[in-house]
Amino acid sequence: MDLVVRGAALPDGRRGMDIGMRDGRIVAVETRLAATGREEIDAGGMLVSPPFVDAHFHMDATLSLGLPRLNRSGTLLEGIALWGELKPTLTQDAVVTRAMAYCDWAAAQGLLAIRSHVDVCDERLLAVDALLEVRRRVSPYIDLQLVAFPQDGVFRFPRAMELLRAALDRGVDVVGGIPHFERTMAEGARSVRALCELAAERGLRVDMHCDETDDPMSRHVETLAFETQRLGLQGRVVGSHLTSMHSMDNYYVSKLVPLMAEARLGVVANPLINISIQGRHDTYPRRRGMTRVPELVAAGLTVAFGHDCVMDPWYSLGTGDMLEVAQMGVHVAQMTGIEAMEACFDAVTCNAARLLGLEGYGIEPGCNADLVLLEARDKVEAIRTRAARLAVLRRGRVIARAPARHATLAIDGRPRTVDFLHPRG
Ligand code: FE2
Repeated sequence: MDLVVRGAALPDGRRGMDIGMRDGRIVAVETRLAATGREEIDAGGMLVSPPFVDAHFHMDATLSLGLPRLNRSGTLLEGIALWGELKPTLTQDAVVTRAMAYCDWAAAQGLLAIRSHVDVCDERLLAVDALLEVRRRVSPYIDLQLVAFPQDGVFRFPRAMELLRAALDRGVDVVGGIPHFERTMAEGARSVRALCELAAERGLRVDMHCDETDDPMSRHVETLAFETQRLGLQGRVVGSHLTSMHSMDNYYVSKLVPLMAEARLGVVANPLINISIQGRHDTYPRRRGMTRVPELVAAGLTVAFGHDCVMDPWYSLGTGDMLEVAQMGVHVAQMTGIEAMEACFDAVTCNAARLLGLEGYGIEPGCNADLVLLEARDKVEAIRTRAARLAVLRRGRVIARAPARHATLAIDGRPRTVDFLHPRG
């Protein structure tokens, strides 16, 4: 074996497992593996997970915070206006440099697959070319999937459909959309239809910003589910955000959710951004705005969480830590039962991988040898402590290490080391 990790806890609850790797793939997962590795890592009972996956991000805007000014209201619409001011001043070098810096943050934290939207409402398609270059450069360590995203509306922005098609021709992977930003409800529905038809024609997946609003009557997800069925795209379409579902009438939702399940629609919530941006027009009580995650999970839909933004016109914080995203998801969705918290870990790992259609993802013989050793004994402890990534492996090679998280306490002349694991562990 090239590498053996011994004594690991796995996300499915198995403990004391050894993982053998050869030629970039996992070849054995068993207790007390007899074969030895040229290199061995003692997991010491800690959790070894497949890598984190971000199902929804904007890498063309990341780390641009403050350019050309800050978002004063903190609203989605000022963010879009601000991005519109920044766009003409972008250079390809600057976008690539910022995105590469973000990918360093990501890889160091075991985030090895990212689906990023890229704005195509730009005659130069500058961000598209920049992120295609970034996708090429990071491919040894990050799977970067790009979505052609018409930020200003595929019918609202002049020539956006042509630009979107051109982005796909250049190699962008997925068809995006933003129906709630088109001029009317009818135009939004027409955009969903046209974009799903385009995806079906080209054999591509779909991931739309859909109903990212507090308006309970914003119901493009219904059209998205319908078009998915009509065009035979089941399992290949994702509705991102779906925040209007938070505010919808309960009777209507009881009809909608089974239709979404029938279409095998994927769902991406973005807890950090949804809790920050939604409800901005409310007084009190103020709505949280995140979509109905526990109900969608219970209905059997695949639900993933995305980071969405890091230090950009919409959000000033973030480090690319998907455990921070999962932790916010736990709180905003009030998913505090043990199984519910475990589902929030799955939302930033295996569920996100499923929505991206990643191949070879998991901890089974034949899977890619991509792993993260966390300083936590299980998924819930990983979320609680935002566990250190003790080692990050890509194709069987250690690409990042970090020290365990601890402090040295000196009280009463008795120095002792404090970690944050459950003392009864
Ligand atoms: Fe987004």
